Amino acid sequence: MDKFVIQGGTPLRGVVTVSGAKNAALPAMAAALLAPGRVVLRNIPNVMDVRTMKRLLERMGASVTFANNILTIDTSDGIGHEAPYDLVKTMRASYYVLGPLLGRLGQARVSLPGGCAIGARPIDLHLFGMKELGAEIEIEHGYVVAKGRRLSGKAMRLAGKHGSSVGATINVMMAACLAKGKTSIEQAACEPEVTDVADLLNKMGARIAGAGTSVMEIEGVEVLHGAEHTLIADRIECGTFLVAAAITGGELEVKACEPRQVWSVVEKLREACVVVEVKDHGLIVANPKSHCAVDMTVAPYPGFPTDMQAQMMALATVTPGISVITETIFENRFMHVLELERLGANIRIEGTSAIVKGVPKLTGAPVMASDLRASAALVLAGMVAEGETEISRVYHIDRGYEGIEIKLNAVGARIERIHEPWG
Ligand code: UD1
Repeated sequence: MDKFVIQGGTPLRGVVTVSGAKNAALPAMAAALLAPGRVVLRNIPNVMDVRTMKRLLERMGASVTFANNILTIDTSDGIGHEAPYDLVKTMRASYYVLGPLLGRLGQARVSLPGGCAIGARPIDLHLFGMKELGAEIEIEHGYVVAKGRRLSGKAMRLAGKHGSSVGATINVMMAACLAKGKTSIEQAACEPEVTDVADLLNKMGARIAGAGTSVMEIEGVEVLHGAEHTLIADRIECGTFLVAAAITGGELEVKACEPRQVWSVVEKLREACVVVEVKDHGLIVANPKSHCAVDMTVAPYPGFPTDMQAQMMALATVTPGISVITETIFENRFMHVLELERLGANIRIEGTSAIVKGVPKLTGAPVMASDLRASAALVLAGMVAEGETEISRVYHIDRGYEGIEIKLNAVGARIERIHEPWG
């Protein structure tokens, strides 16, 4: 297991480029299963989750190539209908194959994903949606077994106690593309990744309207075909770089991202006295000597993303005053708190809120990454902490950030990756 050793205290300066969105790439790859043809996806980030999804698609019979951030997926020779536990357990997003398999083959056997570090993450809404489309679903031996026939379009409301679901919206949308008749999804998730996958599907011949709004309509078609598509930028990687500039007191141009897709983060940073300039496809962060404390509550898009909560908490730890950060989407998403405290942060958890009292400085220490975004927060904190911070289990960060230490070192960070094959 690799680890990072970070020497803190250098402000970041220069230009950093955002990669394609991991959370659009994974469902886009699954969507390719719907068409007996060749799908070419550009701007795919070279991250571990993408490589895991590639292995899964290959196991199911697809031919996949991946080079220079371009993925080609060809399923002309047919596909199997099973997603096995050994791959699904390593990446929850594997369940994205359920909708395409049901849509194209009318049957699927997909392992249940199991537990997750950031809290219970049920897939009841995915299963509800598939049942609404007419699939018969049983749970057998740890697998979702969907037996079927051609799905039928239906009007449904797709939301749980935490509101809309990105994953369920995309999964049901994919299944509905080949269903007979019209499907409408109320309370659909509006995240840019939903819109991006809908754009790809429409290029493949689907008839989806309303993506990016809370009501979507999908007119089923008989067959889809291959297509080419360039993915949107990763708004969470973009937001992480914005905070990286702010926390280190540097000045960074973040290129190849869409400012409107990170608008809630830009607004919060501005409220926190960080100067953010908006460009056509990028942002520039320039930083005053001191920040101001701000409160924030995560919410579905266009609200403040839960995937940026940990990174903003890292910033709050060194911001004078008290910041209250409330998590409303995942119940156990404060795993980074104890690790930030090891660096000297002052944080109290009260229910779903973290009350962060800014300290004058953090000091380096060994810490452990617990999930993807928590690890990003530790990298940010490590870059501002005095002395050396060692982050173990960085495979979590490798799941979703393409070469983060290479990108950050190019703008002045001092992060060394240590390979520990037997660690
Ligand atoms: C996606 C993102 C993740 C992000 C999250 C919220 C991917 C691969 N992951 O995850 O990075 O943090 O959106 O923006 O794109 N829920 C249910 N039942 C379900 C499905 C979800 O109760 O069947 C709940 C979840 O537990 C959570 C809430 O709904 O409380 C939102 O989850 P959802 O939007 O589905 O997240 P994911 O798609 O898993």
